[in-house]
Amino acid sequence: MTGGTSGFGLVAARRLAEPGRARVLVGARGTTSEGEAVPLDLARLDSVREFAAATRYRLGDRRIDALVLNAGVVRPGVEQRTADGFETTFAVNHLAHYLVLRLLLPLLADGAVVVLTTSGAHDPATRAGLAPPRHADATLLAFPERDPGRDDRPRRAGQHAYTASKLCTVLTVRALSGVEDLRSRGLRAVAFDPGQVFGTGLVRALPRRLRTVWSVLGSPVGAPLRWLDPTLNGRDDAGRALSALALGHVAPPPGRSYAALRRGRMTWPEPSEAGRDDELARRLWDDSAHLVGLAG
Ligand SMILES: NC(=O)c1ccc[n+]([C@@H]2O[C@H](COP(=O)([O-])OP(=O)(O)OC[C@H]3O[C@@H](n4cnc5c(N)ncnc54)[C@H](OP(=O)(O)O)[C@@H]3O)[C@@H](O)[C@H]2O)c1
Repeated sequence: MTGGTSGFGLVAARRLAEPGRARVLVGARGTTSEGEAVPLDLARLDSVREFAAATRYRLGDRRIDALVLNAGVVRPGVEQRTADGFETTFAVNHLAHYLVLRLLLPLLADGAVVVLTTSGAHDPATRAGLAPPRHADATLLAFPERDPGRDDRPRRAGQHAYTASKLCTVLTVRALSGVEDLRSRGLRAVAFDPGQVFGTGLVRALPRRLRTVWSVLGSPVGAPLRWLDPTLNGRDDAGRALSALALGHVAPPPGRSYAALRRGRMTWPEPSEAGRDDELARRLWDDSAHLVGLAG
């Protein structure tokens, strides 16, 4: 699992690691209070490769029943670059996870589940208030200065990087579902939209005023809002839903792979129009492979 050290991912890791449930390996930059920490910094592809090798070593002959890729960041702009020279939001949210997935796919047990955390904001129709994704072109997202349609206002550019990275997550799940080897092994892939979950660490890089509002809305003061807006969920509900997907207690109905948590209940709507585009999914898969140095 990634993203099991904070926010609702920590709640999910705690539930997964309850006695008798699962052995949980958590890719983490530091220590973790739940499961076993395996060093991982998603802002460095060499760290991702070391994480995959360490996971392989720790597993020995055993196989992975659930791969949960939940880590994510939001940045105030697109200036920051990772150790590999890619725009940070895209690199952490999509590219590094793509590499984790590719390296760990051979270690998945037959019938395993892969859960990737996305966001309803990947879909312009949700009017989430963030700049919607204009495309899922991996090269332009990795190097936004090459994007002819870019918005130079830092805040909007940062929002675009985030929503586009989450569209990439939906498309990665789409592409995975088309991999013949996975179908024959009975693997399931799900893109999980937790709704809006206040009070997590997600906005830590954003301005202080926004962080304060986020934290107040995440406290009991903000709880009544959940009655008004079905997309709002508490950390416990979102963590419980994520762990239920990982444990296979909730499974997608036939033909669905997008899970959206609404009022604490799992729903299975269609993702955005772009998120259902097989050609876009295939291109993203191949371009991502090229960027991380793998064959398509
Ligand atoms: N909260 C929401 O409203 C919302 C809505 C839609 C989607 N999401 C998505 O849900 C997921 C969890 O978000 P959250 O709200 O629970 O936020 P959070 O509390 O900030 O959790 C983010 C997790 O990602 C990890 N992470 C970040 N950068 C990393 C890196 N370079 N290497 C390794 N791990 C890294 C963090 O680890 P550290 O503990 O080391 O920082 C943390 O465990 C994210 O993918 C987010 O985009 C959240």
